[in-house]
Amino acid sequence: MSTTVALVTGANKGIGMETARQLGARGITVLAGARDEQRGREAERALRAEGAEARLVRLDVTEPESVRRAADWIDREHGRLDILVNNAGIARGGPPSQTDLEAMREVYEVNVFGVIRVTNAMLPLLRRSPAARIVNVSSEVGSITSMTDPASPLARMPTGLAYPSSKSALNMITAMYARELRDTPIKVNAANPGYTKTDLNRNSGFRSVTEGAEASVHLATLPDDGPSGILWGHLWTVDGPADAYGALPW
Ligand SMILES: NC(=O)c1ccc[n+]([C@@H]2O[C@H](COP(=O)([O-])OP(=O)(O)OC[C@H]3O[C@@H](n4cnc5c(N)ncnc54)[C@H](OP(=O)(O)O)[C@@H]3O)[C@@H](O)[C@H]2O)c1
Repeated sequence: MSTTVALVTGANKGIGMETARQLGARGITVLAGARDEQRGREAERALRAEGAEARLVRLDVTEPESVRRAADWIDREHGRLDILVNNAGIARGGPPSQTDLEAMREVYEVNVFGVIRVTNAMLPLLRRSPAARIVNVSSEVGSITSMTDPASPLARMPTGLAYPSSKSALNMITAMYARELRDTPIKVNAANPGYTKTDLNRNSGFRSVTEGAEASVHLATLPDDGPSGILWGHLWTVDGPADAYGALPW
């Protein structure tokens, strides 16, 4: 049996790089997606120095040509893809009343359209895998149920628009891909890393990247009887344990 091959987008830092590290530690060949050659090379070097079979793939999720070239390269080099982690993401903008459409478009271009673009480009390769897994890195802030629950700790977070709504869209996108692919071995799930200390939130998160990557790695390595079409990961509650995991409401 040949090695499992995983592509992680936005793998040059933060949760994506740590996801690549943890998948690499399991003996999985990791294709580390990065839009910037130099940042990607540095990440590739660091991952390889730790023993991971990591290979840089230049990939800007907003550029159709870049995505097509990445898919062609994976096809030539590996002939298939077993795991796709749609991790690349950005956060911008303020509350609804102060949100301009440019900020909305910028965020949706990466967090929403980028995921569809990459997934559809990689699907022919994923269909060649005996048990492919797609993980869309979403967020609890995309859960309309959690965000409108006054008892949730999320109620105390600042009210944004572009980022949370992009993750709500991603949640539905996850559910619809899972529905379309339900009669295939491909499982499609959304991961909630929890509030993780990275550049995305100016390092204000309370979880480490090691913890933040756990949900993606779990969903990327689900057994054949695992779920498809769920949002799963860290459960943040006012009184509950700090390290609870499970399915979140949409
Ligand atoms: N941190 C949290 O608390 C948290 C919570 C829930 C969900 N998430 C999600 O977790 C994922 C990773 O975020 P993070 O916290 O690790 O943030 P991060 O440290 O800012 O990393 C984001 C990654 O995405 C890449 N990226 C941005 N735009 C891209 C594009 N157009 N094409 C390809 N890659 C692109 C970045 O590359 P560059 O270095 O080139 O910019 C970087 O590698 C995101 O989807 C985020 O929404 C994070």
